Amino acid sequence: MKTTISIIKADIGSVGGHIRMTEDILDMCRSKLNDVKGDLLIDFYVTRCGDDVELLMTHTRGVDSKEIHSLAWNVFKEGTEMAKDAGLYAAGQDLLSDAFSGNVRGMGPGIAEMEIEERPAEVFVAFMADKTEASAFNLPLYEMFADPFTTSGLVLDPKLHDGFKFEVHDIKGSKKIIFDTPEESYDLLALIGMTDRYSIKRIFKKSGEIAAVASTEKVNLIAGRYIGKDDPAMIVRAQSGYPATGEVLEPFSKPFLIAGWMRGSHRGPLMPVSQEDANPTRFDGPPRIIGLAFSMKNGVLAGPIDTFSDVSYDRARAKTNELADFMRRHGPFQPHLLPPEELEYATLPDVTKKLADRFEDI
Ligand code: F6R
Ligand code: MG
Ligand code: MG
Repeated sequence: MKTTISIIKADIGSVGGHIRMTEDILDMCRSKLNDVKGDLLIDFYVTRCGDDVELLMTHTRGVDSKEIHSLAWNVFKEGTEMAKDAGLYAAGQDLLSDAFSGNVRGMGPGIAEMEIEERPAEVFVAFMADKTEASAFNLPLYEMFADPFTTSGLVLDPKLHDGFKFEVHDIKGSKKIIFDTPEESYDLLALIGMTDRYSIKRIFKKSGEIAAVASTEKVNLIAGRYIGKDDPAMIVRAQSGYPATGEVLEPFSKPFLIAGWMRGSHRGPLMPVSQEDANPTRFDGPPRIIGLAFSMKNGVLAGPIDTFSDVSYDRARAKTNELADFMRRHGPFQPHLLPPEELEYATLPDVTKKLADRFEDI
């Protein structure tokens, strides 16, 4: 039997600014998904990261299923109505069109889906981030699947020793390219280091089985105006033939800088937190990531373990706060401020336009 794991996520409003989705709307989502459990869905888990609602669903309909996407869309629609009634901020933010045609791709929500032949004891980690974009996953994904200083299994486990295949998307050019690691690691790094343009979409074992998938929808490119960063999600398989769960989590113990944070326009550190602590408040951040480890049998979920609630990430959080202080110190200056091409806020181009005819030749 093949099982599909789908994460479909959207920001449909939040309390007190872009901080946190409410429990009653999450409960409505749970109740709607529960209505079709045993029928359309095998199992599900609903949570939020900051202001983003995350629907994790298991089923047998494959990726891009019309029924599954419609289910998610309808749940988001109903959540938007509740958010509007409650006066929540930016209600319906990520639902960009009323003309739903059976697939949420290109409509605003983010999607990470994989169809797998389950192993006897399937393990995966679902990552969900707020106030950042999909390419924030480039560095940790590289470390998980191609860096032996992170994943000791690449050296020690014959099942990992062959390496992996990385599918990289050129987000602005709508093109993709596949690299073999370790053979083409440097070519891969040459692209994925340019996080403004390239995002890792999928990773495969050399034998073809999928290992990881990330949501790479660019909400601003879809909308043609500033909506926010894309607040991505990803699914990473772990253990027996894949990096161990601890290897999958290890990159987040060493904070790194990403694009997002306030107004999607600042560089800052990504903070690994528990579900409960995924409330980006300081300067609308710092950007957060949660990591939920599941076991699965015939699509039925066990867990999750809220991995970053572990005390061993306390130092990473403390370091993230130090980095946040350091980056904030730059105020409106680069490198805290993103360069113009990455700046999704409309105001700065307007300012430079306004000043254009005051410039004189030197
Ligand atoms: C970032 C984000 C927030 C908002 C900021 C301003 O992705 O959503 O940082 O950009 O709070 O929000 P508005 O323009 O809605 O007042
Ligand atoms: Mg929001
Ligand atoms: Mg968000």
